Amino acid sequence: MIKIANHCHYHKKYARELIERIKDYHSDEDFLIQIEDESLALCCHIQNQKTCFNHSLTDPKLHKRASQKNQLLLKACNNKKHEIHTVVDLTAGWGRDSFILATHGQHITMVEQNILVFQSLNFLLNIVKHDQPHEQVYQRLKLVNENSLAFLSTKDTGFADCLYLDPMFPAHKSSARPGKELQILQLLTSNLNVEELFEQALEKAKYRVVVKRPVHAKNLNDQKPDIVYKEKTIRFDVYLTNNF
Ligand SMILES: C[S@@+](CC[C@H](N)C(=O)[O-])C[C@H]1O[C@@H](n2cnc3c(N)ncnc32)[C@H](O)[C@@H]1O
Repeated sequence: MIKIANHCHYHKKYARELIERIKDYHSDEDFLIQIEDESLALCCHIQNQKTCFNHSLTDPKLHKRASQKNQLLLKACNNKKHEIHTVVDLTAGWGRDSFILATHGQHITMVEQNILVFQSLNFLLNIVKHDQPHEQVYQRLKLVNENSLAFLSTKDTGFADCLYLDPMFPAHKSSARPGKELQILQLLTSNLNVEELFEQALEKAKYRVVVKRPVHAKNLNDQKPDIVYKEKTIRFDVYLTNNF
């Protein structure tokens, strides 16, 4: 069941739209969604503890993280020749990776299949675009509610320079748990057709497919990447495609 608390004063129109679109959302878990003026909080009980994830596209922490020029996500989705202008994020989630890429000039189409996640992100995107109509970063972000496999099937080869995949990581048995935002995503939604999606992406991406993985996970579909960028807990596998 989902409960909605509306504390939004400045963006009532967008808050009403959001409520209308998610009020019939069915979930086996109990969720509370709190709509604020510039943010949105999703709360639920994880291991008997109330857990909330507060998301906003104006969050200074997100902006600080996005501004870092040397991060591996940028290296993985860009290249020295700067030939990669368009990226399709096939697993948009909360849109943070897309926001980071857009901050550095790339045009991103974010595709998200889960209606609650999509509508939440759509609300946040609508309010920032409304409040900051001249801020180019937000103008470079477009959001689509679809299963990415269906989305890709309607596209021609070479329609986007880079296709990006960040599938949900399998739940970890160890005590190290993912951040709140991912724990809540794991309860809300799941990966759909990721293996098939990856195969389609390899056929459609103009220059490269990038896959985010836990650092020690096996390669997606057992396929060896051309380049790997490793961080402490995650890595980015890059598959060069050249589909013109
Ligand atoms: C781990 S999250 C992505 C987090 C995201 N990279 C971020 O920065 O916030 C994975 C998301 O992919 C979505 N997803 C999984 N399979 C999908 C598919 N076939 N089509 C569209 N979205 C999908 C899930 O609903 C989930 O929201």
